[in-house]
Amino acid sequence: MINRVKQLFSALTASISTADKEFVARHLTAEEQSLFWQMNLPDQRHALNVAYSAQAMAKELFEIDQTVLLKCALLHDIGKVRGDVSTIDKVITVLAHSCCKSWAERWGRLGRGNRLQNLRHAFFIYFRHGERSAEFLTNIHADQRIVEIVRQHHKAPADNDPPELTVLRKADNLH
Ligand SMILES: [Fe+2]
Ligand SMILES: [Fe+2]
Repeated sequence: MINRVKQLFSALTASISTADKEFVARHLTAEEQSLFWQMNLPDQRHALNVAYSAQAMAKELFEIDQTVLLKCALLHDIGKVRGDVSTIDKVITVLAHSCCKSWAERWGRLGRGNRLQNLRHAFFIYFRHGERSAEFLTNIHADQRIVEIVRQHHKAPADNDPPELTVLRKADNLH
């Protein structure tokens, strides 16, 4: 609960500095940048915080491809597009997460339309945005390693996970 309040507070106060914009421009291609800027401001802030933490964590890990890691951190949540989910649907989704997660995950369906379709869309984005982020990246022919890491970021850890995915998950959990 405290975490939720903290998340809400940081969402309300989120901002992006000139240094942040330069960081995004330095690490992403033009097409990747437009996907990044399609997110809500709080999601952009979250992705930047994840990228900075991931960078700090991976500084001395020789097995990490820093380019792949930073792109994954900045782009992992691009499946959450600005204006796609209303605030009330977001609230309902968070409640569904605590009361009936496995049903809510299955009930989600991609695609906006009428009131009910929009709610199912909100559920899909909440639980399965990794798949959508990966699809967006496939559409712009991003490196396959990046596509797969982004797709897996909310899946349970596996033995053969690439090291960049392990760092991404850790950094994501901090923010
Ligand atoms: Fe995510
Ligand atoms: Fe995230």
